[in-house]
Amino acid sequence: MNTLYVELEERSYPIYIGEGLLGQLDIIKQHINGRQVLVVSNETIAPLYLENVVLQLETLGLESVDSLVLRDGERYKNTDTLNLIFTALLESRHNRSTTLIALGGGVIGDMTGFAAACYQRGVAFIQIPTTLLAQVDSSVGGKTAVNHPLGKNMIGAFHQPNCVVADTATLRTLPEREFRAGLAEVIKYGLISDAAFFEWLEANMQPLLDRDSKALAYAIEASCRNKAKVVGQDETERGLRAILNLGHTFGHAIETVQGYRDWLHGEAIAAGMVMAAELSVRLGKLTPGDYRRAKALISSAGLPVVPPASISESEFRAAMSVDKKVTGGGIRLVLLSGVGCAFITDDFDDNLLSLTLNGSNLTD
Ligand code: NAD
Ligand code: GLY
Repeated sequence: MNTLYVELEERSYPIYIGEGLLGQLDIIKQHINGRQVLVVSNETIAPLYLENVVLQLETLGLESVDSLVLRDGERYKNTDTLNLIFTALLESRHNRSTTLIALGGGVIGDMTGFAAACYQRGVAFIQIPTTLLAQVDSSVGGKTAVNHPLGKNMIGAFHQPNCVVADTATLRTLPEREFRAGLAEVIKYGLISDAAFFEWLEANMQPLLDRDSKALAYAIEASCRNKAKVVGQDETERGLRAILNLGHTFGHAIETVQGYRDWLHGEAIAAGMVMAAELSVRLGKLTPGDYRRAKALISSAGLPVVPPASISESEFRAAMSVDKKVTGGGIRLVLLSGVGCAFITDDFDDNLLSLTLNGSNLTD
């Protein structure tokens, strides 16, 4: 088992990474507040892992170990489902020192975290992420939220977990497409802040795609290390943390125009990162060689490198203008000045953005 820390003074917490950690849940005992826990999972993950998790928690000498199984899907990430969590907590008389445990992907993690942020004005929670995306991104850093009909993740809070337990063995049951979508966020860390990790990914994509446990543990550790470093410097995204959104302004626009139906989040982010790299070349900030490396790595993970041809520039612009990353009326983008070097800007030639949105090819 490897342990990393998110350093946030009194809210610092460990991320435990390893194969088979769901069989060693005594490691979370010290992170459970009080004597009550509620494990929140969904109908897909529960049959695979919930019984074992509950059985182990029952050996920790707690007063009560409750569980709640929610419907599976992004469309249930809303205030109605949130209310089901509050109802379960109230019906089982959970007090202010209860601990919620999220067992699942980013949807379960975000909802459980937000429920913990709100219940009785804030209780503890623990993340047990079971998708690659959740192990490298959503379980770390304390962003919690539900969706509103008018916008994704628009109702939420920053609320850090007491610990994160990433068991790489859980990734074996993850559908292939979900696994590859998670790789987009892994590649993101190499692109924004870690050239050495990017090189490692170039050399190790096949073992990762084979879900080799050593390769996975290394990639998850490097990703979490990069994310923890950024979150430790800018917990509430006043500046630097926005670099974690490389490709997201383009990617969210793809998801919005498609009505969140066709592409997975990671797939949209993959194409969005290539678009950001391409615009960076047009602006003279990134070399064509680094652009080609970024595109090749994303492609080698089996991820899309161009947006759907059906999305027009005006559809892109309309969706991009309501993205959270828009400030003061202008579009703010995360761009690249090299592999491992991201920067944030709202100062760019809008005609060059049009070329990227129109899918014009780079002539390199
Ligand atoms: P998800 O939670 O919907 O999980 C994807 C699918 O895999 C689901 O059907 C789920 O039931 C299933 N699944 C999960 N673990 C499994 C396993 N081990 N075996 C088999 N099936 C399994 O999706 P996700 O990609 O994990 O997360 C996406 C969500 O994360 C979005 O709502 C997004 O907004 C959020 N997110 C949050 C942050 C953050 O910082 N908080 C960052 C990125 C994404
Ligand atoms: N996923 C982006 C962030 O945590 O800031």
